[in-house]
Amino acid sequence: MRRPFVAGNWKMNLDLPSARALVSELRTRLPAAPPIDVAICPSSVYLFPMARAIADSPIRLGAQNCYPEKSGAFTGEISPQMIKETGCTYVILGHSERRHTIGPKGPDGRVAGESDEMVAAKCRAVLAAGMIPIVCVGETLEERDKGRAEDVLTRQLAGSLAGVDPAASMDIVIAYEPVWAIGTGRNATPEQAQEAHRHIRGRLAERFGRDAAERMRIQYGGSVKPDNALTLMKCPDVDGALVGGASLKAADFAAIIDGCIQARCH
Ligand code: PGA
Repeated sequence: MRRPFVAGNWKMNLDLPSARALVSELRTRLPAAPPIDVAICPSSVYLFPMARAIADSPIRLGAQNCYPEKSGAFTGEISPQMIKETGCTYVILGHSERRHTIGPKGPDGRVAGESDEMVAAKCRAVLAAGMIPIVCVGETLEERDKGRAEDVLTRQLAGSLAGVDPAASMDIVIAYEPVWAIGTGRNATPEQAQEAHRHIRGRLAERFGRDAAERMRIQYGGSVKPDNALTLMKCPDVDGALVGGASLKAADFAAIIDGCIQARCH
């Protein structure tokens, strides 16, 4: 069976004292050996201190982005090798804020953010560095309203996994994060989440084979909270969560982890 996985995406939040306080409270709230994987993804400047803060705990570390080159003249960027050195296990890639919010605006006023091609290059680089990419996909509200959600997911998956060695596929985590549900308090219904996750697993099966697809984990993300975690995680193809806002409160994040354990491990 797939081992569920809950990760906290801290985004550009917290200062160092509050990050330390959050981890220390989380450590007291988590079981010593949870039957699921748990990670926190702090700002890159806090990776080293957070690696120390989680030492000897079941919590693992993830970064929120990387640049797909080993080294060179890429001012302001961070290589997978540098991230690995901090003790990271995971790297979030192609988050919707990187695809749709961060970057220069085009003539139509839309942000020309990270492309599928760039996400794929990062995915290959993260795998080559021996870490686990968390590849985010998800449709906008406009795309959903036009009935194009599944087409968008198909396109994003094909593009964001281009050139990835099928032998490495089981080391990849997919996060389905409908853009309209991120930070809005409006989460997908369990039916919507399950439908999208089943569609994603189908595309993964076409790309990597049915066995690999059955073993790959697909997280749900977008306004996951303690009160909806259990029902979302009961969906057969939802293997955990990528949690934004609620991961900044130890009690909420621990409750979501507990919801995942209740839904998937009992
Ligand atoms: P949210 O963010 O839980 O605050 O909606 C999720 C994410 O962006 O990963």
